[in-house]
Amino acid sequence: DKPRVWVSRPTFPGVIARLEPHFEVTVEDTERKLGPSELAARLARQDAVIVGLKDRIGAAEVGAAERLRIVANLAVGYDNIDVDAMSAAGIAVSNTADVLNESVADYAWALLLGAARRMTAAERWLRAGHWHATEFKAWLGSDVRGRTLGILGMGRIGQAIAHRAVGFGMPVIYHNRSPLPEAVERACHARHVDKAQLLGESDFLVLALPLTPRTRHAVGAPELALMKPTALLINIARGGIVDDAALAAALRDRRLAGAALDVFEGEPKLHPALLTLDNVVLSPHIASATTETRRAMTSVAVDNVLALFGHGPHAGRPPNIVNPNVL
Ligand code: GLV
Ligand code: GLV
Repeated sequence: DKPRVWVSRPTFPGVIARLEPHFEVTVEDTERKLGPSELAARLARQDAVIVGLKDRIGAAEVGAAERLRIVANLAVGYDNIDVDAMSAAGIAVSNTADVLNESVADYAWALLLGAARRMTAAERWLRAGHWHATEFKAWLGSDVRGRTLGILGMGRIGQAIAHRAVGFGMPVIYHNRSPLPEAVERACHARHVDKAQLLGESDFLVLALPLTPRTRHAVGAPELALMKPTALLINIARGGIVDDAALAAALRDRRLAGAALDVFEGEPKLHPALLTLDNVVLSPHIASATTETRRAMTSVAVDNVLALFGHGPHAGRPPNIVNPNVL
């Protein structure tokens, strides 16, 4: 009797197929978000599950999952999973750290440049049939060269974002709970500052930190008030780190020049005011969405499941466990 794996959404069948020699595999064939009791019923008979950010998994969802040994999350962030509850139940949790760093860093820059140059607003205007003769001073954006890039949260994604700043000629400052070792700072040309300084000096502030109880509303009204009115805020991290109501108010009153957001508090719902503002670039949580990276993320999840059950290239040593105490 093979152990059972459930995959909560369609992914890359060729990658998932690597599980088949060792597991009985069930793949959910739609992206529909399952309710808590449906999710609990799906998990009940599994030995391993591969899930995504739409799946919120806590003590109740694994209450009947007596055989479950690992929850492999198809994301680097795992705020959708109650890790303490998993640890208490002896269930390992894995993420997809590292394989998405470059794609997410690229996308942070796409948002930054898109907001600086007003690309999506200009496109909406063009699609609405407005381009007759563009005025010389229409659609003026701002240059990035020489302006200060601030990064809040300087993990591996933050560092990948910083590396790219060299080519754009931007000095980089960052704030992190613990400053990076000097050699790493030098490698990414970044200088540690306190949070107030970061907020006050950044022309472009990129958020690259995980959502935890400590970082919820790390950027709210008091923080926004410290930012330059000419600054742009870019969030590729998580909704909930920013107080979206406070952000929408600051953007509306032009106390902040603009924003570019891939993630939202309460997504897939957006704060309605954000949808009415022209000085914000919006996208539906796609910073890691390249074919290469989403395939690699699937592969990492599969490797972790295989490894925990003693198979594959990391047999016995699953590489991305976030609660290694359970192993
Ligand atoms: C996506 O948001 C991730 O955490 O990988
Ligand atoms: C712009 O297209 C220019 O020619 O300056």
